This record gives sequence, C-alpha cells and structure tokens, in this order.
Amino acid sequence: MSEAKAFDYIISLIYDRTRIRLHEGKQHLIRSRLGKRMRAHGIESFEDYCHFLQNMADEDELVHVVDALTTNFTNFLREKDHFDFMVDRALPAVLPDGRSSFRVWSAACATGEEPYSIAFYLAEKFPVNQGWNWEILATDISTKALAKARAGIYRLERAQTMPKDWLKRYCQRGTGEYEGHFRIKPDLSGRIEFKHANLLGDLAFPSPFELIFCRNVMIYFDRPTQEQLVSRLARFLVPGGYLLIGHSESLNGLNVPFKCERPSIYRKL
Ligand SMILES: C[S@@+](CC[C@H](N)C(=O)[O-])C[C@H]1O[C@@H](n2cnc3c(N)ncnc32)[C@H](O)[C@@H]1O
Repeated sequence: MSEAKAFDYIISLIYDRTRIRLHEGKQHLIRSRLGKRMRAHGIESFEDYCHFLQNMADEDELVHVVDALTTNFTNFLREKDHFDFMVDRALPAVLPDGRSSFRVWSAACATGEEPYSIAFYLAEKFPVNQGWNWEILATDISTKALAKARAGIYRLERAQTMPKDWLKRYCQRGTGEYEGHFRIKPDLSGRIEFKHANLLGDLAFPSPFELIFCRNVMIYFDRPTQEQLVSRLARFLVPGGYLLIGHSESLNGLNVPFKCERPSIYRKL
C-alpha cells in the first residue's frame, strides 16, 4: 500500500466511525498518534499498520485507533460562562414552577472535566439535600477518555481553574500512590452516568433533557453532519430546552429548530 493510500484509508475509517474529518494536513498527527499502536504490534511502517488494520477482523484494534485519533482536550470550568448561565438563567427559565427534577447531558464529555464541572455548579445551586433531584448523563465515543472520566481521578494541577473551596468540598486529595492527585467524591460522581455513545450512531434515552452541553466536538464535523447532529439533539431536549455549544462554534446557516440567545447558547423552539 502506498503512503497516500494508507492515509486515505485511515481518514475514511475515522470518518465512517466518528464523522470526524481528518484533513490532509493532519498526516503528521495521524502518524505520531498511531505510533504507539504500531509498536504494540511490532509493526515498523505506517503503511504496514494500515494493511494490518484492513486485514484484521478484530474490533478492539479499531477502538484503539478511534481512541488515538480523537482529540480529548478539555478543562474544569472550561468556557465558564456556560456554567453560570446554566444555573442562573437556563434552568430557572426551563423548569416549570414546582418542578424539582431535571436532567443534563454532557454529550462529548471527553475525560470528564465537563460533567464534573456541571455537577459542582448544580451541587452549589440546586442542592440535593434541599429537595432538588438532578441527573447528569455523560457520553463520549472514546473508550479511553471515558475510562478516565469514570475514574474521576486527576492530577492536582488540573484543579487550578476551580475555586479552592470546591476542591475541599467536592474532592478528596490522594495519598500514597495517588499523591499529587485528587478524586471526585463518590456522592457527587455517583450522580453522573457515564456511557459510551457515538453522537451520530443509534441514540435513545428514557426521557428528554432540560439542557445539553455539546461543546467543541461539532468543530470536527462537516456542515451536513453538524446539521444532522443538531437536529437530533433537538429531539432529546424538552420544549424550550437549552443547547450549549463551544465558543468557537456556531449554528449559523444550519436548518435547525433553535434560536440563538447569545453566541454559543441556543434555545429549542
Ligand atoms: C475536544 S473534546 C471536548 C470535550 C468537552 N466537551 C469540552 O468542551 O471541553 C471532543 C470530544 O468529542 C468526542 N467525539 C468525537 N466524535 C464523536 C462522536 N461521533 N460521538 C461522540 N463523541 C465524539 C471525542 O472523543 C472528544 O472526547
């Protein structure tokens, strides 16, 4: 297989599996991220690795390829105004008087910082011991990122964007082999359900969400895929529910049932 054919193969494999478009210019990134997989199989050339993938019936290796080629960058309280908006504006607007239960979906949760940030804010403003009953669903296509999210253990430097007292209230410092780390306390992490899901695959939920965070993932999709994704997200929201997308993303020009309340904040019509 030629080098060009090998890249085309990987690009279309990732597109079929995730709808992420890895452009031509990403060749260096593809090569370096798959290096570990090649070493794991003792394969020396990228072309041979692609040949190996093509002739292999084993799904597990494809899971590793998706894990290696998805970009999981995230942070606690990333694009912080969204969390303030959620508790101060969106939830009060979308919850009918007297309603005390609601659901929030972190639709591309990566390594978990986003759903845990949602949980910190909800614990502050909608305390369960005052009668609030909320659930968070957190999904991602990367099994590796999801495993980290589920574990809820992070290096202490990752907490820099978090208020100090939240670290005390909602997290525990590690000791021994976990020195230099913290973990989210189980009573808070227990309110989050982590699930593997492809946003463009089969999705079904028992009830709709009041709010969906789908941030910094659409940016990797082409416009038709973005439109398809946002239309299906609308189906999973209650009427008047909110969709929060990344600060560098926009629904401009997409034929979708949302009105823009602020840049990156949309309300279902
Ligand atoms: C850059 S991270 C964004 C994390 C978080 N939402 C944030 O804004 O900080 C993008 C995530 O989207 C996930 N992703 C990419 N394609 C996906 C798909 N088709 N279905 C579900 N998740 C996907 C990746 O695995 C990655 O974890």
